[in-house]
Amino acid sequence: MTPAFELQGVQFAYKGVPALNGLDLTLPLGRRTALLGANGSGKSTLLRLLDGLQFPAAGRISAFGTPLTEAMFTDEAAAIAFRRRVGFVFQNPEVQLFCPSVFDELAFGPLQLHWPKERIRARVARAIAQFGLGPLAGRPPHRLSGGEKKRVALASVLILDPEVLLLDEPTAALDPQATDDIAALLETEFGARNPGRTLIFSSHDLDLVARIADHVVVLEAGKVAAAGPAAEVLARTALLRRARLLPGFDGTAPDRPPPPIAPAPIAPARSAGRQMRHDHRLAVAVAQDLGVMRQCRARQSGVSTASGGPSDRSRPPASTRTRSAWRAARLRSCSAARTGAPVACAWARKSAITSS
Ligand SMILES: Nc1ncnc2c1ncn2[C@@H]1O[C@H](COP(=O)(O)OP(=O)(O)OP(=O)(O)O)[C@@H](O)[C@H]1O
Ligand SMILES: [Mg+2]
Repeated sequence: MTPAFELQGVQFAYKGVPALNGLDLTLPLGRRTALLGANGSGKSTLLRLLDGLQFPAAGRISAFGTPLTEAMFTDEAAAIAFRRRVGFVFQNPEVQLFCPSVFDELAFGPLQLHWPKERIRARVARAIAQFGLGPLAGRPPHRLSGGEKKRVALASVLILDPEVLLLDEPTAALDPQATDDIAALLETEFGARNPGRTLIFSSHDLDLVARIADHVVVLEAGKVAAAGPAAEVLARTALLRRARLLPGFDGTAPDRPPPPIAPAPIAPARSAGRQMRHDHRLAVAVAQDLGVMRQCRARQSGVSTASGGPSDRSRPPASTRTRSAWRAARLRSCSAARTGAPVACAWARKSAITSS
């Protein structure tokens, strides 16, 4: 089967700062792929390249068997077709949110795609329920908390039911209940019920990755350090330590799978006890690792700045006139990434649907 994406020798640098250093990778269709790696290993850059927001300095990327190039995006029909197939949620939700209310934010993509009003109302209502956004629906997205913004950004893309969804750290900044809700939603939307859909997400959350992903790619300094079935890659604890996904790397640990659990001895009563003790020790070790990880995560403050788009930190200015200009600029720079459709008329139609 043609893969969702294929990358050969991909290199990318930000004004002399190397980010991807000869990346060779195949991302299969119909799978749930997790991109893992330390801070700065290139996950967000890779996702932006897969979404055609940036292009490699060297090497090739193809999407659904067709080269993904700047030239392709100058063909309006091809660009729109790609944007309808592929949805992208930025690591920092502020890059993505520009509408005056959460309701508008959710309705924006469907309006651009000319869905009928009734369908938009029904789908927005469903998204509001799915993402627990009821109390936030009338509020301006830029005045929400980080985790609330994240949920709105996710909902605003998932509402379009993209065949391929690229998610950059979907649960960063979410509280445990919201994380669990999103994980359950992704399991449903990209699980056995929808076998044709593809999910590619970056994360540092090994619990989430173990729960959702069936395919895992580990990046190290802009290169693929490992790729394969989730269970195999997640068992390589030394590799995960080296990639800073588990604490405790001392620079010397060999990258070997853990020794297999001893086969069950013959005497059932004694073997059950021994196996339980072994499992218990293993569980305690894993829990300790995850506990330290959770503490580290709790200490993390916020998320890093995405590039290639509008400034992450910009807030709408105070005066009404400048605020409109700010929104228009934000709209222009973000809407192409949402659906690829022209934006001017969608902006006008949005007031029609929200006020009726
Ligand atoms: N706008 C930018 N300007 C210059 N360098 C950048 C920019 N964005 C990223 N980089 C650099 O590119 C490299 C890859 O960054 P990237 O954001 O892709 O990493 P990441 O794996 O997503 O990290 P994180 O886990 O922190 O989100 C890093 O060395 C980073 O410093
Ligand atoms: Mg990142």
